[in-house]
Amino acid sequence: MKIQDVKKIGIAGAGTMGSGIAQVFAAKGCKVVVTDLGESDLEKSRRLVKLFNANLVEEGLLTEDATKNIVDNISYSTDKKVFSDADLIIEAIIEKMEVKQAFWAEVELIARNDAFFATNTSGLSINEMCSKMQNKKRFIGMHFWNPPHIIPLVELIRADGTADETVDDLKELMYAINKEPVVVRKDAPGFIGNRLQFAVFREALHIMEEGIAGVDDVDRAMRYGPGFRYPVIGPLQTADLGGLDTFYYISSYLFASLSDMKEPSVTLKNLMETQQLGVKTKSGFYDYSNGKDEETIRRRDKMFFKMLKHIHSNGKNS
Ligand SMILES: NC(=O)c1ccc[n+]([C@@H]2O[C@H](COP(=O)([O-])OP(=O)(O)OC[C@H]3O[C@@H](n4cnc5c(N)ncnc54)[C@H](O)[C@@H]3O)[C@@H](O)[C@H]2O)c1
Repeated sequence: MKIQDVKKIGIAGAGTMGSGIAQVFAAKGCKVVVTDLGESDLEKSRRLVKLFNANLVEEGLLTEDATKNIVDNISYSTDKKVFSDADLIIEAIIEKMEVKQAFWAEVELIARNDAFFATNTSGLSINEMCSKMQNKKRFIGMHFWNPPHIIPLVELIRADGTADETVDDLKELMYAINKEPVVVRKDAPGFIGNRLQFAVFREALHIMEEGIAGVDDVDRAMRYGPGFRYPVIGPLQTADLGGLDTFYYISSYLFASLSDMKEPSVTLKNLMETQQLGVKTKSGFYDYSNGKDEETIRRRDKMFFKMLKHIHSNGKNS
């Protein structure tokens, strides 16, 4: 699907994700309509888009003029009927299966017969979500990562009934909005990104619980070792470059020592029970009191923008 063929993108849910996704399409010149339950939700989204724009301008990734076009390209409504002429409808509403199913049942009656339907669910079953749909061929998971106006990855998740054409068209569209799509061939919990992320998270907790290393050294080992490689070469190519015979020998003695925990770890449960939830409670694995929360987020965003500039200056990332 060529970006110039897109007349209108419909986005349901004007929260963190819906607003960021709207900004991305509007920045590429698409007309976008965003819906939510109430006017106050839509107002929140208008403010979010302005904030995303301002950050991008500050980093030199967007001009002031471009921000005006972005704002003009996005309209807002509390009425789903605005989706009646959309080419693609992306749902980014509350993460509850029954709410999402009811949403799609209603939208299927409103939308064009040839419109694509995509859900931004973090992990609900794509097959279950479309189980009651008349036409499953045009339905797909489209998992943007937060913040969607910065992170390049979009996972396109096939349901059993998704047509090849849907995958191909939307993959092309993702490239056109400067995203890096990956295809998840079947509906599996965690898709690709979260399976990888949580395998690392589980092992990081295991290393601490075994007394092998503490919080800071675990994080620094990842950032300056494997993590240093990952923006350039993924885990499979890392193995190719290291030598698959060597990776085979290491796997044969190391795998048995790695975590196969089936439940959230004791450390994580304890942190939950004591309400140490990370930056939101100013304490987690690290202390975030006295402004350290904002300082951490600022440093993270600065580095994210540097990486984004690098990607933009090189065209595509691969
Ligand atoms: N936040 C993340 O890190 C992240 C990342 C990837 C995917 N997601 C997924 O994206 C979706 C949205 O997440 P979010 O973080 O933007 O949530 P959010 O709470 O910021 O926004 C959700 C919005 O949906 C609206 N909403 C709820 N029910 C609705 C309905 N029936 N019709 C229309 N609007 C409705 C809410 O009023 C709210 O404004 C979820 O499925 C979530 O799992 C979130």
